Amino acid sequence: MSTPPRPTLLLVGGGGGLVGRAVVEEFAGSYRILSVHRHHVPNEVAGKVEWFPADLGRTIDWTSLVQGTKVILTLAWYRWESEQRFRELRDGLLRLVDAARRADVPRLLHVSVPPAPADLEERLPYLRYKREVDAAIEATGLSYRILRPSMLFGHGDRLLGVLLRLIHRYGRLPMFGDGSYHVSPLAARDLAAALRLEAEGFSVGTVDAGGPVRYTYHDLTDLLFAALDRRPKYVKLRPQDSARLASLMSRLGSSLLYAYEVRWLVSDLLGLPPYEGLDRPLMRTETYLRREAARILSGDGR
Ligand SMILES: NC(=O)c1ccc[n+]([C@@H]2O[C@H](COP(=O)([O-])OP(=O)(O)OC[C@H]3O[C@@H](n4cnc5c(N)ncnc54)[C@H](OP(=O)(O)O)[C@@H]3O)[C@@H](O)[C@H]2O)c1
Repeated sequence: MSTPPRPTLLLVGGGGGLVGRAVVEEFAGSYRILSVHRHHVPNEVAGKVEWFPADLGRTIDWTSLVQGTKVILTLAWYRWESEQRFRELRDGLLRLVDAARRADVPRLLHVSVPPAPADLEERLPYLRYKREVDAAIEATGLSYRILRPSMLFGHGDRLLGVLLRLIHRYGRLPMFGDGSYHVSPLAARDLAAALRLEAEGFSVGTVDAGGPVRYTYHDLTDLLFAALDRRPKYVKLRPQDSARLASLMSRLGSSLLYAYEVRWLVSDLLGLPPYEGLDRPLMRTETYLRREAARILSGDGR
């Protein structure tokens, strides 16, 4: 008896980013993955993933790519880019959404971002254009699900892992304001498992997804020091000075932290409720920090 063909996942944004790597890991066993993004990535090995090299901001023949696709998952976005690049990426994603609607694709999944302060939602291309993609997906009439995860962690992430390395190197961290605002970090691998569940489910709508524990930012950074067996040491900054410092750093070419990320963090909107539905507990941040700290202390600083 022949085995039925594997359903196709169209992975828009590919398997090279933090979420994409976890998604490939999660879906590769049971889906044929067709991955659309720009750069070659080592985990997209032949047989596991078919790579369609493309910049999503350019014209792509989406009609043929979405043909026969069971699930589309979009996760491409920039953390920081010019308004023009955000606009082009938005336009590309809107063309994809339109093709998905015309082809009546069975399931459309989209990774978005949690609510941010109103002024950022209004003026920041990062948020304004993302919301336009969210809204277009909601208007398709398709079976769609938008996941809006809180801060994500996993090997190679750009926040908790980077902060651990900063502590290892300099022994201290900046503290933005009093650190009493909340975050509920979610493991990228748990987000991928949630996406797999949603790919096979029927719920429609938007869900905010946090990890198992809602920490104050100060408690979380204390845990970072503890993971490295260091006594917490902070350089205290007022929130407005923190945003100014981040802005200066990015003008000097640093991608460590952007002013909007500081504003978002201190706005106390990132302590999202835990994602519910997995048949196993969500990974605690401490588990990841211990592993990552051991890696750093053993000299594997990557
Ligand atoms: N990381 C977090 O803490 C976090 C939290 C909440 C929500 N999110 C959302 O989750 C999604 C994934 O985040 P992430 O942290 O995994 O991002 P990431 O590591 O930067 O990965 C994004 C991927 O998108 C692809 N991409 C970007 N621009 C593209 C373009 N013009 N054409 C084709 N591909 C493009 C990139 O692949 P190529 O370079 O190969 O093209 C990249 O691997 C994003 O939508 C983000 O907004 C992330």
